Amino acid sequence: MLLDKKYTMKSNKVVIDILKRNNLPFINRIINKPEVSKYFNFVPPLTLEKTIEWFKEVKKKREEKRGECFVALMDKKVVGWCYGFVNAEIKERFLSILKPHIEKIKDNECGYLAAIVVDPEYKGRGIGSKLLSELHTYLKKIGAKCIWLGVNSDNIFAKKIYEKFGYRLIGYVPNFKRREDGRMINQEIYIKFFD
Ligand SMILES: CC(C)(COP(=O)(O)OP(=O)(O)OC[C@H]1O[C@@H](n2cnc3c(N)ncnc32)[C@H](O)[C@@H]1OP(=O)(O)O)[C@@H](O)C(=O)NCCC(=O)NCCS
Repeated sequence: MLLDKKYTMKSNKVVIDILKRNNLPFINRIINKPEVSKYFNFVPPLTLEKTIEWFKEVKKKREEKRGECFVALMDKKVVGWCYGFVNAEIKERFLSILKPHIEKIKDNECGYLAAIVVDPEYKGRGIGSKLLSELHTYLKKIGAKCIWLGVNSDNIFAKKIYEKFGYRLIGYVPNFKRREDGRMINQEIYIKFFD
């Protein structure tokens, strides 16, 4: 049966908002999908309790005007999110790659993309791009001069979106993670400077 045009249009409308407590069950369901969790560094399943702890961290950063998590909603249902903040603690193996690029940047001007996720059912519709633009706008507003991230070298889709937004590959940590088939993959470090 063909969907009524009005319904199709309504259900395709994406609304961007900030993360709220009632979004957490959706987030938890999506993050535990194998095609999503494989690109993150936790052992699934991630419990709802852990997601609630993470929400507290987001709220703290929001209150301190140091970070924000944006959600993409379709018919009030979360289909994606993007979380970033300034002044992230940088592990030594990343710092050695980043240092030459951020030497002149103060800690609270250095943005970090902690997560960007779109429900696999809604991939490739521009939702990730909308979320990332929103986060860039927020970070610039709070004074960030750049944003960096780490991505698994086999995460082709994520690398496409970063390249589209002008992020530049500056180095990698070799043999960062082992895939189920035994393959070792690198962690690539990307950075973007805001104009
Ligand atoms: C990475 C991710 C957030 C992208 O979200 P998305 O909503 O699919 O992204 P968009 O639709 O905005 O597409 C962004 C770009 O990716 C590329 N892309 C998207 N779909 C594509 C497809 N089917 N084939 C090839 N390239 C594609 C395009 O370059 C696209 O930009 P364009 O359409 O303007 O040319 C999503 O794939 C995801 O959640 N992946 C799993 C979690 C993850 O890996 N997160 C990042 C961890 S570092």
